Amino acid sequence: MKKIIIINGPNLNLLGKREPTVYGTQSFESYFESLKEQFGGAIVLEYFQSNHEGAIIDKLHEVGFSYDGIVLNGGAYTHTSIAIADAIAAINTAVVEVHISNVYAREAFRHHSYFSANCKGLIVGLGLQGYSLAILSFVLGTNANG
Ligand code: DQA
Repeated sequence: MKKIIIINGPNLNLLGKREPTVYGTQSFESYFESLKEQFGGAIVLEYFQSNHEGAIIDKLHEVGFSYDGIVLNGGAYTHTSIAIADAIAAINTAVVEVHISNVYAREAFRHHSYFSANCKGLIVGLGLQGYSLAILSFVLGTNANG
């Protein structure tokens, strides 16, 4: 079975409570249960969250040579962290970058991602459903031909 991990960065532990008009009212733990129901029979699905840049890098190193896919929402580190961008480039496992909100409809500092160029693809602005679509892309094994 394919092994896929979701990695969430800073402040995403507060989903459900944090700025609900932007990020919704559902906690990630509760959403993760529905993801496991959706995909549990087809893949091994794991979840990791950290508010610490180095911990995210350590996790990318740990999984990035054996897992089949990484779904990464780096939160604000997306816009600041060359170190996480380097870690994405360093590993073998493909990364799909996810943002719950449409970062391009928000402040200008959210329009640049250090990660995107090193990622397989991006899903932005589709709410929590973006995680499901990112996982689906690994399950289906999409390539440049779709
Ligand atoms: C976010 C967008 C980032 O700009 C922000 O810092 C976050 C969440 C999103 O999922 O929409 O923490 O990654």
